[in-house]
Amino acid sequence: MHMDLKESLSWSDIEQHIASCTCCPLCRTRQRPVMGRGSHQADIMLIAEAPGAQEDRQGIPFVGSSGEILDRLLGDCGLSREEIYITNIIKCHPPGNRDPQEAEKEACFPYLKYETFLLKPGIIVCLGSVAARRIIAPDFRITRQHGTWIYRKNCALTATYHPSAILRDPSKYEEVKRDFREIVKKRAEMTK
Ligand code: URA
Repeated sequence: MHMDLKESLSWSDIEQHIASCTCCPLCRTRQRPVMGRGSHQADIMLIAEAPGAQEDRQGIPFVGSSGEILDRLLGDCGLSREEIYITNIIKCHPPGNRDPQEAEKEACFPYLKYETFLLKPGIIVCLGSVAARRIIAPDFRITRQHGTWIYRKNCALTATYHPSAILRDPSKYEEVKRDFREIVKKRAEMTK
């Protein structure tokens, strides 16, 4: 059952709801649900797609090969996992690494809403087109539009390639690094 949409929920309430969630069929195949991780005071929130096999085993986002790339990118831009918050559109691993289905994304969306509500990030960064299409615009084209910004309420939103795209095509690393450097600049502008 989903949690009630109560403003009084805490981070640990959400974690407990996710840990026992049976809102979609992925609960039958997952090993461990993967709640977001990082600083609850972060002003940058990264939103990716769904946990991979390694994340499913450990219950932690970005611990596999995509995570290694992400850590390198963060390090190259003077950021660390401890100062940002990283989560996924869906919290359970889709078998065989297939794309999450619409019904799975919708079933899981309240958790992401709560994470965002509690964190109140100034900057949201979508990693890859699945996240960008769910969060920024349904017709978002990552190749053309990565690195662009939109503004909603008090939040600046952007998207860049998912780290797994760099694993498939290492030449994308520099492009993603440029996007991350702009994110760091945006944060500096916003905290002036
Ligand atoms: N890929 C994702 O989209 N999320 C993870 O947590 C790990 C890999």
